Amino acid sequence: MTNRYAVILAAGQGTRMKSKLYKVLHPVCDKPMVEHVVDQITALEINKAVTIVGHGAELVQTHLEGRSEFALQEEQLGTAHAVMQAEDALGTLEGTTIVVCGDTPLIKAETMEALLKHHDELKAKATILTGKPEDAAGYGRIIRNEEGLVEKIVEHKDASEEERLVKEINTGTYCFDNKALFEALKKVSNDNSQGEYYLPDVIEILKEEGEVVSAYQTDDFEETLGVNDRVALSQAEQIMKRRINEKHMRNGVTFIDANTAYIGADVEIGRDTVIHPGTVIKGSTVIGEDSVIGPHTEIKDCKIGDNTVIKQSVAHDSEIGSDVNIGPFAHIRPQSQVMDEVKVGNFVELKKVKFGKGSKASHLSYIGDAEVGEDVNIGCGSITVNYDGKNKHLTKIEDGVFVGCNSNLVAPVTIGKGAYVAAGSTITEDVPGEALSVARARQVNKENYVNKLNLNNN
Ligand code: UD1
Ligand code: CA
Repeated sequence: MTNRYAVILAAGQGTRMKSKLYKVLHPVCDKPMVEHVVDQITALEINKAVTIVGHGAELVQTHLEGRSEFALQEEQLGTAHAVMQAEDALGTLEGTTIVVCGDTPLIKAETMEALLKHHDELKAKATILTGKPEDAAGYGRIIRNEEGLVEKIVEHKDASEEERLVKEINTGTYCFDNKALFEALKKVSNDNSQGEYYLPDVIEILKEEGEVVSAYQTDDFEETLGVNDRVALSQAEQIMKRRINEKHMRNGVTFIDANTAYIGADVEIGRDTVIHPGTVIKGSTVIGEDSVIGPHTEIKDCKIGDNTVIKQSVAHDSEIGSDVNIGPFAHIRPQSQVMDEVKVGNFVELKKVKFGKGSKASHLSYIGDAEVGEDVNIGCGSITVNYDGKNKHLTKIEDGVFVGCNSNLVAPVTIGKGAYVAAGSTITEDVPGEALSVARARQVNKENYVNKLNLNNN
């Protein structure tokens, strides 16, 4: 097979986004646009990929490190000038180069593969991926001659009224004979309305040199949507969301309302799990089988087991086991490990806690920086006092402990195995195993006190 290379254009500032964030780093379904593109490029068999980055786009490099080489485009003088920056890396190589924009996050590897195949079959020097969107405004138009062969691409801003009526557009993805590309790039001028070096001009240059130039039209225009502003960003989000949710449905996941469930591109969900409305699941989250997530739940970077229910809650960067019941209105903060068969109920917050198998905190608790053993019962309103104003301290609650309601466990402190803490206690010293600890003022009843008070007032 001929060698294949890829150039990903990602140096544009994205003025139309009106953002501090580099355009190609704007996320679509929780992943930067350019990463979606590189994911698809990686799925093709490519010998070398070069991403063109702008000045100050270190973040783009961080996101793509190890998956692409990089070439810097100091000044954004146009897409042809951008590709030229890959000359050192690719210029002398024999093979086919696919060029794709970092702002077309929905492009699929299978479409690029079909484009490459078409290019090979026609032995073309350049093949453009074209499409017919509902609204062609803003895109470069494909101008064909009487025989229907591609002549050139005219940018929207440079197009005549007649040319603007053309429905077929340049999607910004092309393949080229690598050497012919770098030769032709040298001949591109910036004599146009934007004063930029346009990559699409390479088509006309090759055509005039008598080379075979072709076009491959995709009927799925959604896939080639170019994101230039926040309206298109929102459209891309909707399309990608639908694509991701459908993938999960095909794999056996139920969505009660797929329109209101936002699942990140890398999330994994097991069979027979049910996703309720208003649910956002992000990052590297992995969810097992038969679980129920939502309604109105946010989960990020969590590993969740089977048959676990999480409703109206937030969980970040934590491990949650199987047969666990969380919520409504619980908050599982980072570095928590919630073991199997646990119950974390209404208005309970866990932070950096190992919460042992079968243990329960059913209502109104804060448990932070703690190790909770198995079968522990934490009564309503009980908290770990983990912070002394300077440092955080550990609370250890051993297996089988019963913490009565509204207790304060002032860390560092250990409650020994099987111990009882009386309701309303403020525990400042370790409690031995099997002990009952009562740490509160003894109740005093002052008989007839109210009547005496009333007499004095009269
Ligand atoms: C481009 C095409 C247009 C096509 C459309 C498809 C040109 C001149 N026009 O227009 O024919 O219909 O894409 O979406 O190519 N970039 C750089 N360096 C630069 C300029 C741009 O790296 O100097 C990158 C951008 O980051 C972006 C891509 O190239 O990822 C395309 O640039 P953009 O300005 O978005 O081009 P469009 O106006 O959308
Ligand atoms: Ca664009």
